[in-house]
Amino acid sequence: MEGERRVRVGLLGLGNVGQSVARVLEENSYWIERKLGARLELKKVLVRDPHKQRPVPVDMITTDARDIVAHPKIDIVVELMGGLEPARSLIIQSLQAGQAVVTANKEVIAHAGAEIFQAAAVSNAQLAFEGSVAGGIPIIEALKEALAANRISCLMGIINGTTNFILSKMAAEGVDFSTALTEAQRLGYAEADPAADLEGHDAARKIAILASIAFETRVSDDAVYRQGIQAVTADDIAYGRELGWTLKLLALARRHSETVEVRVHPTFLPNDHPLASVHGVSNAVFVQGYPVGETMFYGPGAGGDATASAVLADMMMVARRRLSGGKELGCTCFDQFPILPIATVETEYYLRLEAADKPGVMAEIARLFGKNAISLNSVIQKRSIGSDAEIVLVTHRTPEGKLQNTVAALNTLACVKAVRNVIRIERGQG
Ligand code: NAP
Ligand code: HSE
Repeated sequence: MEGERRVRVGLLGLGNVGQSVARVLEENSYWIERKLGARLELKKVLVRDPHKQRPVPVDMITTDARDIVAHPKIDIVVELMGGLEPARSLIIQSLQAGQAVVTANKEVIAHAGAEIFQAAAVSNAQLAFEGSVAGGIPIIEALKEALAANRISCLMGIINGTTNFILSKMAAEGVDFSTALTEAQRLGYAEADPAADLEGHDAARKIAILASIAFETRVSDDAVYRQGIQAVTADDIAYGRELGWTLKLLALARRHSETVEVRVHPTFLPNDHPLASVHGVSNAVFVQGYPVGETMFYGPGAGGDATASAVLADMMMVARRRLSGGKELGCTCFDQFPILPIATVETEYYLRLEAADKPGVMAEIARLFGKNAISLNSVIQKRSIGSDAEIVLVTHRTPEGKLQNTVAALNTLACVKAVRNVIRIERGQG
């Protein structure tokens, strides 16, 4: 810190988010300085390719991380590179050197959070990561501070903007999957490798971070049950519409007495569910806790500017604490609750299958469900595909393990050509 009124910033990365941060820092500098009582000064920017045109002065650009990380003339290191390495090592080195770190990198926090918090605690350095979950929605600050007195029982959310954008476009405009993905990439919503969005890794990382904070127990991303949207078809969306449901990639975390349940998968929600009307790149997180009851947080879930809002607020917060000598909250993962195995989780299910279109087939399928003690809510046979019929079955609540055994058994029946898709249904909000 130079004098008392200037806080020097180094950016690691100048992509979608980094460029928005640099631009808004410049555009809003007057108001930022007024509110903070100090100037946030961008000093250096680390990139991979030094030859690209950049919207910052050339002498700010570097390809050597040592110009920022552990450098005595940088107070706040803002990591916006993405990926696990070298981001993890650079964050830890910065914290060890006593620099404050702000990151929007969910992969690094969800996977190496324990180690990073430890490094921050040892050197009493500040760490903030609001931009890592739900873009511009201040959900981390809300859970850590504004809802701190609550016992949170459930979090349910749409926390990946790219997949919500794709599913919304497919449902509302009949746009095909790859066109919608290309549009999401053009708008800067998708991860560098969009498989992270489509396969549910990104949402799994985010719900791991939220569950860790909400339930005060370390949840690592690899402990989250995860299924992406790759298998979702326009047919499933259309059947859901007929049944009064909207398809979403849902992230859910629930506290049980001695365990936590954490999962991400495509889910049908009744159209009147509060999360069913969250469309496009918007995200929403539904929080249930005592004493607050039910609250919902809504806003833009991805994109450079939305994320810059969160990153800049973190930069201002750590700068304020640094200037005032305020204490960092630190890690609040006090417990180590086991994660509930997915086989024991109970929901309702939608199954779409193709079977021979002849007498007795429906009875044979229904008998198999009966034998496995799964109760059927409804059965729809809509259309023929050659000599086969497409059948949609909706179950009552049943444990996942039982359902998966039944799907395996269905696939061995001579009359069943294939089970095409299985999608969970959530009707409640908690
Ligand atoms: P991006 O557009 O791919 O930008 C990454 C930047 O980091 C680029 O400037 C790149 O340099 C630089 N970089 C990457 N690896 C590097 C390395 N090894 N050495 C030096 N520089 C390196 O990514 P983004 O969309 O801005 O996302 C950044 C982070 O924010 C990620 O963790 C992402 O998950 C998170 N995030 C993104 C969004 C969003 O909507 N995009 C929202 C919330 C959080 P070059 O320019 O030279 O390639
Ligand atoms: N790729 C992420 C998303 C960026 O689409 O939600 C925001 O974290």
